[in-house]
Amino acid sequence: MIRPVLRMGDPRLLRVAEPVARVPDAELGELITDMLDTMRALDGAGLAAPQIGVGLRVVVFEVGHNPRYLQVEPVPLTILVNPEITPIGDDLVEDWEGCLSVPGLRGLVPRHDRIHYTGLAPDGSRIERSVAGFHARVVQHECDHLDGVLYPRRISDLTRFGFEAEIARLRQTP
Ligand code: NI
Repeated sequence: MIRPVLRMGDPRLLRVAEPVARVPDAELGELITDMLDTMRALDGAGLAAPQIGVGLRVVVFEVGHNPRYLQVEPVPLTILVNPEITPIGDDLVEDWEGCLSVPGLRGLVPRHDRIHYTGLAPDGSRIERSVAGFHARVVQHECDHLDGVLYPRRISDLTRFGFEAEIARLRQTP
């Protein structure tokens, strides 16, 4: 079921989400189905449970052919319960991000270029990956939601934050 996505300003987006106590679990399965339906309906690259008002540490992401994110490498469909991120090295890279909770806007956000992440799949098996680039960015963005952080708080230069149509023009300027 497609659920309404909370928008920036809703205090529920600022809360620290709770770990999921039991995996697998029928209720968790329903939550994940709703998250995937909602993410796909809105062409999102990812979604975190707090964005649909559920304060649990669950994120989903998938980047295939996405009209909102052209020119990025594909990221496999991943459902992560109780994720943990460890940065690899100190390299930060800046790239443009958007968020279904901040509709119509884009900002240039510094993130770790390489990370290691772990979490549980919905069947309880362990997921462990080392990734870089856009995949690493998506995971960091989604996991930030679990700690009540929206990407505008990560922007280092607020002159690089604005409406999508204007930013598209800015990005074409060398
Ligand atoms: Ni987001």
